[in-house]
Amino acid sequence: RLLGSVGAAGATGLALGAAGGVVSGATASDDTLAALTAVGSTGVPFYGEHQSGITTPLQARGHLIAFDLAPGAGRSEAVALMRRWSALAAELMEGRPAAEGDTGVALDAGPSSLTLTFGFGRSFFDRTGLVAQRPPELDPLPNFSSDQLDARRSNGDLWVQIGADDSLVAFHALRAVQKAAGAAARVRWQMNGFNRSPGATDRPMTARNLMGQVDGTRNPKPSEPDFDRRIFVPAKTAHPWMTGGSYAVVRRIRMLLDDWEQLTLKKQEQVIGRRKSDGAPLTGGSETTEIALDKTGPDGRLVVPDNAHARIAAPEQNSGAAMLRRPFSFHDGIAADGTPDAGLLFICWQADPLRGFVPVQRKLDRGDALSPFVRHEASGLFAVPGGPREGEYVGQRLLE
Ligand code: HEM
Repeated sequence: RLLGSVGAAGATGLALGAAGGVVSGATASDDTLAALTAVGSTGVPFYGEHQSGITTPLQARGHLIAFDLAPGAGRSEAVALMRRWSALAAELMEGRPAAEGDTGVALDAGPSSLTLTFGFGRSFFDRTGLVAQRPPELDPLPNFSSDQLDARRSNGDLWVQIGADDSLVAFHALRAVQKAAGAAARVRWQMNGFNRSPGATDRPMTARNLMGQVDGTRNPKPSEPDFDRRIFVPAKTAHPWMTGGSYAVVRRIRMLLDDWEQLTLKKQEQVIGRRKSDGAPLTGGSETTEIALDKTGPDGRLVVPDNAHARIAAPEQNSGAAMLRRPFSFHDGIAADGTPDAGLLFICWQADPLRGFVPVQRKLDRGDALSPFVRHEASGLFAVPGGPREGEYVGQRLLE
């Protein structure tokens, strides 16, 4: 049985036809394919108005990898690289092996909702002589007072986000992307993340993060009338090559879990302003009930505290600033001091970071109740162009 997967974001996966290997008629290979689960056989289209991996439902496994162009490489090497990566992404997202030098790691698996999403960092435009095409949205993010950023794990000329519902499929794509970079680009940093596996809950639910909170409830939904305007760059823009694109802010946010887990449940809930069990606002109802920010309790005090994360981050408190948060959790083992090196690979998408991430982070940085329990350790900002049309490569409208 083939299913398109529908997640909290409301985007629908595509059950692949022949290209993904699901064909009618009885052959030996069909038997193998028929045995694929719905998870394996779900494919996401590579071509379209927007790149995939933005409104695609969260996948179970994620890899982020940033590259710098190699010394001496410029625009023509970048063109060749984006052509190679685009051809590779189209193949892998259909569940096919790479045309050249496939490692075999994903053999037997279907596309498993694999997505590859490509972005350009600010420095890419210097390296390729395209500064005149660089949108002001790529201006460096401001320094926030609580930042503890590692420059070596931040930014980069090029960025690739890989997501899949199978770890082998995701790793296969990561390795293929790295190999296809060849001599044109060098890995700058790489991070690994995860989310809950599809089917782990008896119905689709908003994911939880490693603090145990239901995280993603108040994300803008594609069905909302202002969704596109908030998340994607419109056709009327000073840099038309970004039409249909989006800006990704990436932050490696370490969670200070030893400290967090010492809080009582009540205190944890007050930090966010929502119930831990089901994500409902402290002012009552269910997860989707609107949070009543002005409601006071019998003691006359606000039910959702002044500094609760959900209050401070709410668009209503930030002149409508909104972003689509699409993170992966990470766990990179136990640090030397015995604390888990774990947290959130926070990725948020918006048409303009100055009307999304920046104003909200400015406010959180002044000290919301969550701040003492998190540490921003790395940061990136990338221009992610619109999706390619068939026959095009990602970024072609910029590079040619
Ligand atoms: C809401 C957790 C960092 C922006 C929430 C919620 C949780 C949460 C549990 C409530 C449920 C929801 O609506 O999704 C966290 C954790 C973080 C973190 C654990 C760090 C590890 C950030 C950062 C930003 C941000 C860095 C942006 C600068 C938002 C926004 C909302 C939200 C916009 C929705 C507020 C609303 O509309 O009600 N977060 N968050 N969060 N968070 Fe965070």
